[in-house]
Amino acid sequence: MENKTYQLLDGKAVSAQMKREMAEEVARLKAEGGKIPHLAAVLVGHDGGSETYVANKVRTCEEIGFRSSLIRFESDVTEERLLQEVDRLNNDSDVDGFIVQLPLPKRIAEQKVIEAIDYRKDVDGFHPINVGRMAIGLPCFLSATPAGILELIKRYGIETQGKHCVVLGRSNIVGKPVANLLMRKAYPGDCTVTVCHSRTRNLPDLCREADILIAALGSPEFVKGDMVKEGAVVIDVGTTRVPDATRKSGFKLTGDVKFDEVAPRCSFITPVPGGVGPMTIISLMRNTLLAGTKAIYA
Ligand code: GUN
Repeated sequence: MENKTYQLLDGKAVSAQMKREMAEEVARLKAEGGKIPHLAAVLVGHDGGSETYVANKVRTCEEIGFRSSLIRFESDVTEERLLQEVDRLNNDSDVDGFIVQLPLPKRIAEQKVIEAIDYRKDVDGFHPINVGRMAIGLPCFLSATPAGILELIKRYGIETQGKHCVVLGRSNIVGKPVANLLMRKAYPGDCTVTVCHSRTRNLPDLCREADILIAALGSPEFVKGDMVKEGAVVIDVGTTRVPDATRKSGFKLTGDVKFDEVAPRCSFITPVPGGVGPMTIISLMRNTLLAGTKAIYA
């Protein structure tokens, strides 16, 4: 029989709570005459998704009490000019952390830009030094989506030790790091992790083995009801804009999980929107606070 009593992993509510916690901490910093954390964001071009994400990041900074700067370039900016800006931000002592919103225009070597960022200001956690430190369990900036997923698991007290976690997707910013973090000797962690991708055989069979299923493919409604074990925890990282003429925006933000079919089988499931998305932004804010207080790198 289907289990109808699933619980939503409410990223919107958890992130709102974290925002209040951080706002209090910033107020305390201010009262003590400390430095106000400052996040800068570099945005290239006018991609709709990137515009929205960056606007949300800037707004959340303001709500918490951080300083923020938005640096915009047109999509014809040269790689050289962008690297020059990265260098300027590396050397701006008021800027505690900064991000370059991805994706960048194809002409620009994304990895070169990422590696130009001072790892001590790399609040996205994309620099190879942060990725490497994460992989061997050293203090570092954890990239925001994996960190947000872990925080959600933690705040709902979901057991992870000995569980089989299946990750769908092997991207550098979600699949690989979340797989790595969940196999660590820690909580959340101590999972047995399987990573599936476009060349995986018997993917639905592997999904059905999952106690915790993390879908990060960017393939709308890929995970169907019959791919999920009864009582599983399902975390949906997908946020694809699917055209929808009935909406004012013209699109519907659609996850990688066919929610109506899957939810009744779950113990816990994230909604889209309102699940992983808000947790990602708030995790970037957490990293900004850690950067501002020099909590990881002096
Ligand atoms: N594009 C999609 N996700 C992210 C992110 O977390 N950081 C940056 N900089 N770009 C992104």
